[in-house]
Amino acid sequence: MRVEPLTCSIGAELVGVSLADAIHDDGVFAGIREALLRHRVLFLRGQDITAGEHVAFARRFGELEDHPVAGSDPEHPGLVRIYKSPDEPTPRYENSWHTDATWREAPPLASILRCRECPPVGGDTMWANMVLAYENLPQQIKDQIADLRARHSIEASFGAAMPIEKRHALKAQFPDAEHPVVRTHPETGEKVLFVNGFTTHFTNFHTPGRVRFGQDFNPGACDLLRFLITQACIPEYQVRWRWSPNSVAIWDNRSTQHYAVMDYPPCHRRMDRATVIGDRPF
Ligand code: SIN
Repeated sequence: MRVEPLTCSIGAELVGVSLADAIHDDGVFAGIREALLRHRVLFLRGQDITAGEHVAFARRFGELEDHPVAGSDPEHPGLVRIYKSPDEPTPRYENSWHTDATWREAPPLASILRCRECPPVGGDTMWANMVLAYENLPQQIKDQIADLRARHSIEASFGAAMPIEKRHALKAQFPDAEHPVVRTHPETGEKVLFVNGFTTHFTNFHTPGRVRFGQDFNPGACDLLRFLITQACIPEYQVRWRWSPNSVAIWDNRSTQHYAVMDYPPCHRRMDRATVIGDRPF
C-alpha cells in the first residue's frame, strides 16, 4: 500500500489498495486504519465494489447507522443515499461545513463515501483538520473554551426547512445533544475543536467571569461561537477532492469537518455513504 499525502495538513491518497480485499485481509485493514488516524481522510480511486462490499468494508470499523432525513438503500441498511438530481421538486442544500450527525449523543466515528455518478466538473468535497484548527487557536481563546459545552441540533439544521409538525416530530425523536466544545480524540488523545454547522449555542457560557450584565450573554457567546465555527474555512487546514465514479473517501468524523461543494446544478450527483456509529465525546 502506498500512502501519498495530498497536503501538509490533511488527506492522503491510498494507492494499490482494494477495499474488497480489505474486507477479509486484517493486515490491509490495519494499514488503512493507521493511515486514517494519521491523515484523517483517505482517498482511493477505481473501487468498483458492490453495495454489499461497501457495507461489509465499513462494518470492519463498527456498526452502521442510517440517517433520519436522507434515505438508505432498502436492500443494504446502513448505506445512505446522497442523490442529487435536477428533477428534485425542492433542491436540498448541502454546502455547509459540518461533522456528521453531531446532533446525536454519540456522533459517528467515520464515514465511507463512494461516488456512483458525478457531474463532469464540480461537486467536489472539502475536509478540514479540526485538530490543527484547535492547535492554532490563540492561547487566550483556548483558555476561554476549555470547559465550554454546546448544543447540536437536527431541528435547527435538517428540520429548519420542514413544516412545523414534522420539525417537532424530528426533534422529539432526536432531541438536541450537548457536547464539549473541545473534545479529546478517543484513540490518539488529541484535542479537537468540536463545533460546526449543527451547533446552536453554548450551554454554560453564563459565568460571572464572562458576563457582567444579562445583555453581554448573547453577543459574547454568539461572536465566540461564530469565530470557532469559521475556523474550518481556513484553507491551510483543508484538502479538496475531485470525484470520479468509483472513487472513495474514508474520513475520521471525530477530528474533521467536511463541505460538499454545491456548484453543479443542473447535473446529477449520486453518492453512497456508510456511516459508522461512534462514541460519546469527552
Ligand atoms: C456528507 O456530507 O456526508 C456528504 C458529502 C458529499 O456528498 O460530498
